[in-house]
Amino acid sequence: MSEFAELKVDGNTYQLPIIEGTENEKAIDISKLRAESGLITIDPGFKNTGSTKSSITFLDGEKGILHHRGYSIEDLAEKSSFLEVAYLLIYGRLPTAEEFKAYKEEVTLHTLIHEDFHKILDGFPSAAHPMGVLSSLVTAMTAFYPKSLDPNRSWDEVNLSIIRIIAKMPTMAAFAYKNKIGHPLVYPDNRLDYTSNFLHMMFGLPSQPYDVNPAVSAALDKLLILHADHEQNCSTSTVRVVGSSQASLYSSISAGINALWGPLHGGANQAVIEMLENIKADGGDTKKWMAKAKDKDDPFRLMGFGHRVYKNFDPRARIIKKAADDVLDSLGVTDPVLDIAKGLEHEALNDQYFVDRKLYPNVDFYSGIIYRALGIPTEMFTVMFAMGRLPGWIAQWREMRENKEPIGRPRQVYTGETIRPYPGS
Ligand code: CMC
Repeated sequence: MSEFAELKVDGNTYQLPIIEGTENEKAIDISKLRAESGLITIDPGFKNTGSTKSSITFLDGEKGILHHRGYSIEDLAEKSSFLEVAYLLIYGRLPTAEEFKAYKEEVTLHTLIHEDFHKILDGFPSAAHPMGVLSSLVTAMTAFYPKSLDPNRSWDEVNLSIIRIIAKMPTMAAFAYKNKIGHPLVYPDNRLDYTSNFLHMMFGLPSQPYDVNPAVSAALDKLLILHADHEQNCSTSTVRVVGSSQASLYSSISAGINALWGPLHGGANQAVIEMLENIKADGGDTKKWMAKAKDKDDPFRLMGFGHRVYKNFDPRARIIKKAADDVLDSLGVTDPVLDIAKGLEHEALNDQYFVDRKLYPNVDFYSGIIYRALGIPTEMFTVMFAMGRLPGWIAQWREMRENKEPIGRPRQVYTGETIRPYPGS
């Protein structure tokens, strides 16, 4: 393949370098186009725009491939723990046994949050959505650790900020939930592993020990792995853009949590279960809801279907679907919405509208069913996604900083009024 693409405009020819990634992905580099020609490119929603070169995650949407740092998501989901995957994403390689032991100890050392966080929590009404509470608590970390405000400090200091948020995220997530239901907070039990500790804080009571079911903990750990990174998605791009202004790690992550919250992104897991519940309450007529999803005058979309990048299948959805069956079996739970989900999936996969648009179940279609079986309330589903995505956000923030990327600042084509006289002048 040639090293340049040629663009001809008004009799002028511009040579645009072609760059190639390690998996042979090719891109036309237009970064100097405006300086040379005065032209910009336009691509609403960045559907065909690469914002960075990254060595963290490789994704092939046509083939349904997802790799982190060269390891397949299937291998990681089967063989790793979430904390190991976090290490892999953030530090670039899997830890040795000794490194991992030291890492776990370090994370464990920081699981508590400052008692003054309780005052912030107390200020939230019980109707507060836990995602809003979580993003506020993450921003509040800047107040408790003011040195974290400067991302240009030494690596050891930046790494301490990273360790702190990895350690405290489950504590803040569980506290957001306890505060919502008006129950007393349960402090971390540092004898437990990362995911079991979260379950202990979420479902335990201060007055009595809580026995974490290892099957539940293993299932949740796998779900966290499946959400750990997904290259330049909406929330990750948000984290990188916010961080590119040299805002702190915690402010960047908090922005990512807010971006994730929307129902077209991470909020879809809550929206899927609400949709399935609605269909059930409405008599379970999946055909009626399929027709609504296809009707362009109806804003309803089949939540949990479609993906910006995956156009054949979402490899995470395959793993999750199997995990959902395993979890329901092992816990002896029967969930009527699972049948509705399977019915909808079957119809959509055989429906011309969905086939033509390459709309397949995504990661969020079955994750909510597992969360429900594990006893996690619906409003906490997207918080689970945020806990899982945290290492990806951190790794991408770190990479953006280390690549010394410029501030994120897209251009536009102006379509408003041209200059006109001010009334009365
Ligand atoms: N139900 C019905 N029609 C759909 C759906 C859906 N879920 N998704 C896309 N379409 C149609 C859309 O109307 C459009 O049709 P047409 O070409 O006739 O105008 C076509 O498919 C392409 O859709 P798009 O909105 O242009 O595609 P996009 O890449 O901008 O959006 C998406 C991707 C995920 C936002 C979208 O598929 C969607 O809204 N899905 C439902 C929400 C959801 O499940 N989100 C979770 C995504 S996976 C988790 C994560 O990583 O965040």
